[in-house]
Amino acid sequence: MDLLIKNGTVVTESESFIADIAVKDGKIALIGKNLPLEAKKIVNAAGKYVLPGAIDVHTHLAMPFGGTVSADGYLSGTRAAACGGVTTVFDYPMQRKGKGILETVEERLKMCAPQACVDYAFHCIITDLNEGSLLDEFQAAVDYGITSFKCFFVYKKEGMMVDDGTFVKVLLKAKEVGAITNLHAENPDIIDMNIERFLKEGKTSAWYHYLSRPEFVEAEADKRAIHWAKTFDAPLYIVHLANKEGVEAAAAAKLEGYNIFVETCPQYLEFTCEVYKREDGRNFVCSPPIKGQESQDALWAAIKNGTVDVVATDHCPFQSYEKDWGKDDFTKIPNGCAGIENLYPYMLSKANEGKITFNTAVKLCATNPARIFGCTDKGSITVGKDADIVIYDPDQEFTISVDNMHSDYDHTIWEGVKLHGYPVQTYVRGELVYDHGNFVGKPGFGKFIKREPRIRKG
Ligand code: URP
Ligand code: ZN
Ligand code: ZN
Ligand code: ZN
Repeated sequence: MDLLIKNGTVVTESESFIADIAVKDGKIALIGKNLPLEAKKIVNAAGKYVLPGAIDVHTHLAMPFGGTVSADGYLSGTRAAACGGVTTVFDYPMQRKGKGILETVEERLKMCAPQACVDYAFHCIITDLNEGSLLDEFQAAVDYGITSFKCFFVYKKEGMMVDDGTFVKVLLKAKEVGAITNLHAENPDIIDMNIERFLKEGKTSAWYHYLSRPEFVEAEADKRAIHWAKTFDAPLYIVHLANKEGVEAAAAAKLEGYNIFVETCPQYLEFTCEVYKREDGRNFVCSPPIKGQESQDALWAAIKNGTVDVVATDHCPFQSYEKDWGKDDFTKIPNGCAGIENLYPYMLSKANEGKITFNTAVKLCATNPARIFGCTDKGSITVGKDADIVIYDPDQEFTISVDNMHSDYDHTIWEGVKLHGYPVQTYVRGELVYDHGNFVGKPGFGKFIKREPRIRKG
């Protein structure tokens, strides 16, 4: 064997048990009690948890946005991922008018391949159907391993917004080829109306970012998207869902048996819209904005009852000087926050505190993302799967600070947040990439994950 992790508490989505894990050729070869095996490397994990690596299915690395580019590229973003126990990262190449899907993806693949420190996959953002001809390329994209697409109901001036007609065409084509459609759901017209009014009234602080897109702005779009997904019985994955009414609509549709999947993010679980009243409120500006306490409570309830399928980060950091562009006008703040290194430690800390179980944390951050997005070799400590493994010390106290993160940004909304327990090692396909606070991986080691299509239904 190449690696033997002994006596840890192995956690899957459904059970926890003490066992040894043997790794050979990057795969989990055996799981059992007191395995009588020789190995090149033996790790004693007694008193520790042994978990599948997290899969962060929502990141924006080196993303052109808001007049700049997000502050983490593929190297620093995946380095930070490794140090937070994330072993697979999903990024979003953005198709532009006149461009094809595969050429868009291959351009990003070329950038990412030499830099990636963990494994990676791509959802492709669709912004323009090229008079319909782009739809003919969906099957080829799926054959290439791109089995999910993404639409935005907002960001008109960035050229990313699609109308309902385009969205429904994507939804239908994705269904036909065994892919799934991701959606950023907010209502652009109401946002524009609010912004126009606030700016006219001189209301320009970050608080008005929240007030221009409050709960109902997101809820309407969630419900509209769910309506189309139900009407055409097409799979729909709502990204970064942050409001109570939307999560309740999704829960009802799921109960009826529709393939509606819900993602939320740690920032919506930890903070409330009150942060936008702070002096540094602009640093928390992301879309959808962080909502009120009632929504946060509803999201935690939805995590516990299974309505939320995935917790992912929406990692899209900007430097302080870029956030400062919006000091006197919230519409000039680049949207997005850091989080890739905090996702798993945060959710596992909540498990350690007893708010959720460790099994639930594993399901939300690893097993469900792999299942929903067709990463068949990943997401679980199971014989035959990739040896993407995190060893977690439940007794290590950790206070998040920009100084102990491994990204390229200069501030974090997570500054000062205290965690109970922290990852001590991360392995990607059996290779150690993070060790007790230090990145020990190699740029270029990460591999493109060709994903499986969904089983086509009806
Ligand atoms: O504010 C955010 N979330 N920025 C990144 C783009 C997006 O909407 O996901
Ligand atoms: Zn978004
Ligand atoms: Zn996003
Ligand atoms: Zn503690």
